[in-house]
Amino acid sequence: MKPVDRPVSSHPEFDTNTALYCVLGRPVSHSKSPVIHNAAFRKAGVNAVYLAFEPSSIEQAVKAIRCFAIQGASVTIPFKETVMAHLDWMAPLAQQIGAVNTIVNDNGVLKGYNTDCRAAIDPILSYGGLKNKWVCVVGAGGAARAVVHGASNEGAKIIVTNRTREKGRRLAQEVGGQFVASENAADIHADVVINTTSVGMFPDSDAISFPEKALRPGMVVMDVVYTPVVTRLLKSASARGCIVIDGAAMFIAQAAAQFRLWTGLNPDIELMRHTIVKI
Ligand code: ATR
Repeated sequence: MKPVDRPVSSHPEFDTNTALYCVLGRPVSHSKSPVIHNAAFRKAGVNAVYLAFEPSSIEQAVKAIRCFAIQGASVTIPFKETVMAHLDWMAPLAQQIGAVNTIVNDNGVLKGYNTDCRAAIDPILSYGGLKNKWVCVVGAGGAARAVVHGASNEGAKIIVTNRTREKGRRLAQEVGGQFVASENAADIHADVVINTTSVGMFPDSDAISFPEKALRPGMVVMDVVYTPVVTRLLKSASARGCIVIDGAAMFIAQAAAQFRLWTGLNPDIELMRHTIVKI
C-alpha cells in the first residue's frame, strides 16, 4: 500500500486537503479509535482527521464513504459482517473469516480487510505455537470469527462456548471444532482461553465471561475487552497462575495495522498505548 498522497506537515491544520477517516458502529460512544488514530496522525504529521459515526444503515454509510471520498474506516459492532456485501473487494483472510473491520478507499475502490485476526493471534503466539493446542473462544460474533479462524489456521483445536447455542455451534463447525454450552463451560480443559464478548466491560466490570473454576496455572488467557484494561477475567486468571494478555494489546495491534493500510506508515505504538491507558 502506497503512503497517502497528501501534504504532510509536523503541525497539520485542517484544510481542504484534510483526509477524513472514521469508525462506523452502533453504539460507538465507547470507542477509543478516534483518540488513538488522531494522536497517531498528529504524531506522524499526516493531514487527516478521524471521527466516529453511528449510522442507522451500513449500506448508506458505505455510500457516504464513496460520496465524500472518506479515505478509510474502521468497522465495529454490529456491522463487521453486514458491511461485506457493500464493498468492491475483500482480502482473502477477511473473506475466510467472514468479517471486515477495516475499509480502505483505494482511489474509489472500497477494499475490506480484517486486522482483528493477526492482532489477536500474534500476542498469543509470542507465548508459543498453537499447533494441536486446545483454544477456547468465548462468543460467536465478528471478533470470535477472527480469533477462531486465526487460531485454526495456526493448527489449534477449537472449542467455542456461547450464550446462543446455534450461533456457537455453527462457528465451531466451520473449523471442525467443538461447541460447549455456556452452562457447561466450567468443564472445559483448554490451553488458551479468549473472551470475545463484551462481558466484563465497564460499567459491568464485575461480570466474568468464563468460569474461574476452569482457569488453571500456565493457561494463556486473553480478553478483547479493554475498558477496564484489567478485567475481572484477567484478575482471576493472574491470581490462578495463568499468563494474561489484555485487550489493549489487541486493540492497539488492530488499529496499528489499520493505520499502516491507510497511510503506509508505522504509527507510534507506545503513544497509542499511552493514549488509551490514560483515558
Ligand atoms: P463483535 O462483532 O464485536 O464480536 P457481536 O457480533 O455483537 O460483536 O458478538 C458479540 C458476542 O458476545 C456474541 O457471541 C454474544 O452472544 P450471543 O451470540 O448470544 O448474542 C456475546 N455476548 C454479548 N453480550 C453477552 C452477555 N451479556 N452474555 C453472554 N454473551 C454475550
